[in-house]
Amino acid sequence: MSDTLVAEKKPVAGNIHGIESWPVQRTGKSRLKETNFSHLPFGHVFSDHMLVADYADGAWREVGIVPFGAITLSPANLTLHYGQSIFEGIKAYKNQQGEAAIFRPDKNFDRFLKSAKRMAMPSVPREIFLDGMMQLVALDKDWIPTEEGSSLYIRPLMFATDDLIGVKPGKKYKFILFTSPTGPYYNKPLKLYVEDYYVRACEGGVGAAKTAGNYAASLYPTEEVIRKGFDQILWTDAKEHQYLQECGTMNLFVVINGKVLTAGLDKGTILDGVTRDSVIQILRGQGIDVEERLVSIAELISAHQDGSLQEVFGSGTAANIIFISDMQYHGQNIALKPHKQWEIAPMLLKELNDLHYGRIEDTREWMWRV
Ligand code: COI
Repeated sequence: MSDTLVAEKKPVAGNIHGIESWPVQRTGKSRLKETNFSHLPFGHVFSDHMLVADYADGAWREVGIVPFGAITLSPANLTLHYGQSIFEGIKAYKNQQGEAAIFRPDKNFDRFLKSAKRMAMPSVPREIFLDGMMQLVALDKDWIPTEEGSSLYIRPLMFATDDLIGVKPGKKYKFILFTSPTGPYYNKPLKLYVEDYYVRACEGGVGAAKTAGNYAASLYPTEEVIRKGFDQILWTDAKEHQYLQECGTMNLFVVINGKVLTAGLDKGTILDGVTRDSVIQILRGQGIDVEERLVSIAELISAHQDGSLQEVFGSGTAANIIFISDMQYHGQNIALKPHKQWEIAPMLLKELNDLHYGRIEDTREWMWRV
């Protein structure tokens, strides 16, 4: 589908970033002062503004930044029925000098376009997604929390807006980008249940797309394992339930004998995580072996038994790097060594945090200064 842009961008004089700006309707009543920045559970608090764009007749129009607020939908809205909806998750941080920067938003933009294609949706122009994001974060910069582990979570989403209950792709779409100041997603190492019945993704399915239905399908199985005393599911492949996929909403890494293993992207069942890619680049940059391939539960158990299983961790934008303490498979507990004895995951966590909060040089140009 086309991504023609017919909306008018208004260049703003003195814009130091070299990006053009979208029209802004500022809120008359900022909620900033009444927000408790020492209590920011994930996904509950939203900043003052959002960027909105509408797609119709093959082109994006009416792009602009407006006060954050509700939208109205018809009961016949196509997305409510058939789930044509995609999203992204990105984070902005503030360094000790108070300068704001966004972590690798170009990677999220690329993935958003891939998700759009898989879900038969139009692409969104870079000027809306990336320039709009930079402009919105600059406008709501004071909403970026500064405490270690905190950030401004950026949520772009797109969904069909046709009022139509025929099963077919929409012709009209809305793109919205809003932000949410947040503290850490998890605050302790996780206990995983190795799932051997429900599935997150199958070959030929939509597991590599960041689409709403993937998350909806995970809710019931996840509630079940939480009831059994676990924190999250470790998803396995749909055919044999033998190969590790993701854990909860994160990519999964296993360290065996100094080698770091993670599921490859080639089967289309794994989300191409931005933190996943960053982890792989950091490790390879340090000469640490990373293998992107099938990793079986049998390999994991055998490494646990012979003592070569060193670390298991999840990676994601919301979660960052999360240590896994235990995994249960068919009633057997696989307990990891205390993470105080780990080397790789703690190093990655430190490296990423140092980069996010501007404490080390950004040699890969991952932080986009706002
Ligand atoms: C992210 O890490 O940004 C995610 O998408 C997880 C989210 C569903 C909470």
